[in-house]
Amino acid sequence: MKDGNKEARATSDRFSTGLGVLMATLGSAVGLGNIWKFPYLTGSNGGAAFLIIYIICTILVGYPIMIAEHALGRKGRSDAFSTFRKLAPKSIWWIIGAMGILAAFLIMAFYTEVAGWVFAYVFKSFGSGLLSTDPQVTTSVFTSLVTNPLQSLIWQWIVLIVVGAIIIMGVTKGIEGTTKKLLPILAILLIIIGIRSITLPNSVEGLTFLFKPDFSKITATTILTALGLAFFKLSIGMGAMLTYGSYYGDNQNIPVNAARVVAADLTVSILAGIAIFPAVFSFGFEPAAGTQLLFITIPSVFASMPFGKFFMVLFFLLTSFAAIGAMISLVEVVVAYLVNSLGMARNKATFATMGGMAVFGSLAALSNSTLSAVKVFGFTFFDFYDFTTSNILLPVGGLLLAIFTAWVWGWNKFNATTSNEGAIANAGITRVVFTILKFVTPILVAIILLTGLKIIQF
Ligand code: PHE
Repeated sequence: MKDGNKEARATSDRFSTGLGVLMATLGSAVGLGNIWKFPYLTGSNGGAAFLIIYIICTILVGYPIMIAEHALGRKGRSDAFSTFRKLAPKSIWWIIGAMGILAAFLIMAFYTEVAGWVFAYVFKSFGSGLLSTDPQVTTSVFTSLVTNPLQSLIWQWIVLIVVGAIIIMGVTKGIEGTTKKLLPILAILLIIIGIRSITLPNSVEGLTFLFKPDFSKITATTILTALGLAFFKLSIGMGAMLTYGSYYGDNQNIPVNAARVVAADLTVSILAGIAIFPAVFSFGFEPAAGTQLLFITIPSVFASMPFGKFFMVLFFLLTSFAAIGAMISLVEVVVAYLVNSLGMARNKATFATMGGMAVFGSLAALSNSTLSAVKVFGFTFFDFYDFTTSNILLPVGGLLLAIFTAWVWGWNKFNATTSNEGAIANAGITRVVFTILKFVTPILVAIILLTGLKIIQF
């Protein structure tokens, strides 16, 4: 009976078309990571030099791991946990899946809060209080939102309810349908905002900040932050891409699809950077403002353009859709586990997961108000979740995934899966990817982790 269920799931829930696969995977990758996290980290880590290291990490570490996850997922045709049980029975590699489930909870805890701010800004954009080029005005709108405990909680719950409802509708309909239509519109809107931003007075300073590197500011911690961002951005190192891989059809070209996702994701991040940084310098904002950067600077760009209010509503609306696509994939890691491995009904699994996330999440939601004085290792709950997931859990998960794929699963199975059992002649490129997974990824990630966390120092 249980096996029958699995069979039914494996065939009915696959992404129906090639475009659907690409868009759903992109839907997971593109999110608040591009629009909120990438600009805030680039701003507080010195700009262009950070961007370059981030791009290197994306290509050298992110791309190979994404291919590995898609391949393992499609081969295992299960959740992140039992895929490892299937592919390597009687071993403890399932630990990767277990860590991934933990990471999904911790990421959702702060992600739903930032998404809540975005939802709130959709509504605030209709009013006139936000539309200002004065840093003090936009900062105070943001501060009054995040320091209000009840508002923070309610927006987070709204986010959780929306995501839960989409998940209950099922994989292909829910995910494919939502993401397919919206990403291109978001990209076009970012280009429009970018054009306005670079035509502002003094915009050159912002472009210089974003594109002219000064490597003197780079430390081991900065490199770890860039690596962590690469993991977070591509949704890798925790089983989200593996879970999506399990929905892939047998004829989808994994390496090509992954390359498109990486390229498109990077493009959206850089567009967001071009939209934000010229305005930062033009209006006298602080590039290192941290997690509030997006929310205080972007309204000022809109305030200085025709139809600003209309575009601002649209911008926050589309950003909230991008966030939803990413959150669906996070929740899906846990729900797929509860359904496949524990045999829970899908609706029940979704309710249980969302409930758990609300509990973790409320600690992050209250980090700027009621719980602002409570610190874990010197961080508020929000910053603790943000830091430990990107900078520890995901890189460690990615390191283990690379070792598992290259050293345990092995070349023959990797090659068979990534070439669709010999149907695509791509062994040249997948050999390179495999070699990187075998030697470069584990060593590089280990060194960056150990030095970035100051466990060893040169
Ligand atoms: N990649 C998503 C973003 O950039 C976040 C995410 C991380 C989603 C990990 C799934 C898994 O917003």
